[in-house]
Amino acid sequence: MAEEAGSPKTGCLVDLKGQTALVTGASRGIGRAVAVKLAACGARVVGVARTLEGLQTTLEAIRAAGGEAEGYAADVASAEDVKRVVDDVESKYQKIQVLVNNAGVTKDGLMLRMEDDAWDQVIDVNLKGTFLWCRAVGAVMMRGRYGRIVNISSVSGIRGNPGQANYSASKAGVIGFSQTIARELASRGITVNVVAPGFITTDMTDVLPDKIKAEVKDRIPLKRLGAPEDIAEMVAFFSGPATSYVTGQVVAVDGGMTV
Ligand SMILES: NC(=O)c1ccc[n+]([C@@H]2O[C@H](COP(=O)([O-])OP(=O)(O)OC[C@H]3O[C@@H](n4cnc5c(N)ncnc54)[C@H](O)[C@@H]3O)[C@@H](O)[C@H]2O)c1
Repeated sequence: MAEEAGSPKTGCLVDLKGQTALVTGASRGIGRAVAVKLAACGARVVGVARTLEGLQTTLEAIRAAGGEAEGYAADVASAEDVKRVVDDVESKYQKIQVLVNNAGVTKDGLMLRMEDDAWDQVIDVNLKGTFLWCRAVGAVMMRGRYGRIVNISSVSGIRGNPGQANYSASKAGVIGFSQTIARELASRGITVNVVAPGFITTDMTDVLPDKIKAEVKDRIPLKRLGAPEDIAEMVAFFSGPATSYVTGQVVAVDGGMTV
């Protein structure tokens, strides 16, 4: 039977009952699918996005399905915002078992014409943001002697992509950073893994012309663009207790694009 992009995956192999999972960029796209999936696996989800209004659809979807969720407005690249959210969540729930660094931006352009601003903004959100949340939540996980960190990179961070020098650098940075902290945090039962999506249908990729999408699809062995739910499945896998012996790994979820 042919599988449709975004077709609901049945069941949940991962049991996150009683756990708190913090997901950045949870207002839409991959972040929303991850938040919904982790809630379906039993986690209490703390969603972070730039505005609370943006988060409403995600929070409502989780609550409508009987799950538990709350939202925080924060800029992921602001150390003050990160501290405010993490302090508050820790004081309410004591532990944070799962952290998914998903928030990300693109500001594409050829390197020779790239403005400083486009470089700084993308590195700040994608790479510094990931560092700030890992540092703050990592401290909470250290105290709890348990944690699952999943950082979202990109196939652009593995292979590079013309027009995305800033983005590729930020996403390659996420990989090196994750491998390092995987080693630093391992002794406390904290795993750190990376999911590298290929071409996923979201607002981020919606801006691309149909011709480009068709060309990309043609290059994908599984012959379809990815859906946010495809990424959520892999994130849930790394978020669960069963993957306790896997850390510092990078898994491309890309329909075979990088094979
Ligand atoms: N869509 C793809 O094809 C694709 C491919 C590879 C990697 N990714 C990565 O997956 C992640 C999610 O991508 P998406 O396609 O769902 O993107 P999207 O643009 O649809 O959503 C991005 C999310 O990040 C949030 N965000 C952005 N900047 C923020 C900030 N400064 N503070 C707080 N929140 C912020 C947005 O509010 C939104 O919720 C990103 O890290 C992206 O780089 C996406």
